[in-house]
Amino acid sequence: MSVQIRPVEGYPTGELRFPAGFQWGMATASYQIEGAVAEDGRTPSIWDTFCAVPGAVMNGDTGEVACDHYHRMPADVDLLADLGATSYRFSVAWPRVRPDAGPVNPAGLAFYDRLVDALLARGVAPWVTLYHWDLPQVLEDAGGWTNRDTAFRFVEHATAVHEVLGDRVPTWTTLNEPWCSAFLGYTAGHHAPGRQEGAAGLVAAHHLMLAHGMAVTELRSRGADRLGISLNLTVADPFDPEDAVDVDAARRIDGLHNRLFLDPVLRGSYPADVLEDTGEMTFDGRPWTDAVRDGDLETISAPIDVLGVNHYHGDAVSGHPHTDVVGADADGPDRVPLSAFPGSEHVTFPSRGLPLTDMGWEIQPDGLRRLLVRLHEDYPGIPLHLTETGAAYPDAPDDDGEVRDPRRIDFLDSYLRAVHAAIDEGADVRGFFQWSLMDNFEWAFGYAKRFGIVHVDYETQVRTPKASAYWYAGVARSGVLPA
Ligand code: NOJ
Repeated sequence: MSVQIRPVEGYPTGELRFPAGFQWGMATASYQIEGAVAEDGRTPSIWDTFCAVPGAVMNGDTGEVACDHYHRMPADVDLLADLGATSYRFSVAWPRVRPDAGPVNPAGLAFYDRLVDALLARGVAPWVTLYHWDLPQVLEDAGGWTNRDTAFRFVEHATAVHEVLGDRVPTWTTLNEPWCSAFLGYTAGHHAPGRQEGAAGLVAAHHLMLAHGMAVTELRSRGADRLGISLNLTVADPFDPEDAVDVDAARRIDGLHNRLFLDPVLRGSYPADVLEDTGEMTFDGRPWTDAVRDGDLETISAPIDVLGVNHYHGDAVSGHPHTDVVGADADGPDRVPLSAFPGSEHVTFPSRGLPLTDMGWEIQPDGLRRLLVRLHEDYPGIPLHLTETGAAYPDAPDDDGEVRDPRRIDFLDSYLRAVHAAIDEGADVRGFFQWSLMDNFEWAFGYAKRFGIVHVDYETQVRTPKASAYWYAGVARSGVLPA
């Protein structure tokens, strides 16, 4: 099959070799691919509940069957190994491991035990994410991430998983994208549990980070030696860098999206400007900062070994009204719900005229280079790993059965060139997980958005590697981006 690769402006277009030992992988998450929601003792998570709310998820889609990976795991592992993965990032469903947050469920854990063995048998390094958004519903009934107790329960979950897989899994991510869990889940209501409670997102963010820090300390004491967290970080550029209002708007987005998480985890403090901006926000009638207790920041900043970076797009940010904006509006499904934040209500995301993916996200590889270099400079000494990037496009099989997705190849090529450029500038980036191995349940968008390098026919569950999968396999096997 022949796919045209467009040169990326500003980067070398020739062959590009990655450092020896650079890890090439694909990522997935339990609720997005597994299905089998009531098997082997699994009980409902907040996403099962949320999917049942009319209008919450596009087309009324649910994760009930998803990619049926729970039943097709061995073949899926063969597929990803055949596609050149040297590592595979997957998440462990809390409601399988501890149904209803109760006692450990050996039948649920056995699935991941088999998965890890299957990966190792194919020479693929397993990378576990302990929480990718499927909170047991019973914990949400008790307040979810706005309840401090949830952090303690997370440590129980983490410990149960580590006890079984700890001898074979080298790398552990505590949380995936706590920004989404907190703000999309508790302030915007676009994600489960669907709450729209303003400062609840800040309280949830604090408890999520507390859960992270406590789990790091606990797993470290049990012998885990490569621990981290995956943050979805953005690049907030002032739309007009000469305009003080735009500069301030960009600072606010950088604060809520990036530094609110980076600073506690890597520096042991909350950013002063974010505390000031959110000072008047209350949860349950009290300042949200009442959730922060003595010693919490020390716990949260327990040293980690790798920072997982998830990055798909940056944003131009303005403090002025604009009609040509990226995404529906400032409170759109993947935005910080700004109407809840005093002083940020007027922030907009004007279009820069860049090409968009099917998610409506701007394609801007240079933002990724700048992000990685910034992390290297502002938070030195911590190895970085791209734990997710990728692009949604709707390409389906042509009449000859091939799936031609040249735009995804362009996207991956350009984002990988950006990673390479960042490494050249000194950023210590150890590997790259493409999101995602296969088309799957894209949260509030259901099955309408396809991020896979492998196409999934949801009627038949037939997997068809797309052109991008063959392209990525070539890159992963050789460690070289083709000219
Ligand atoms: C972020 C999430 O970790 C993943 O679950 C999601 O599918 C992708 N990005 C694409 O939105």
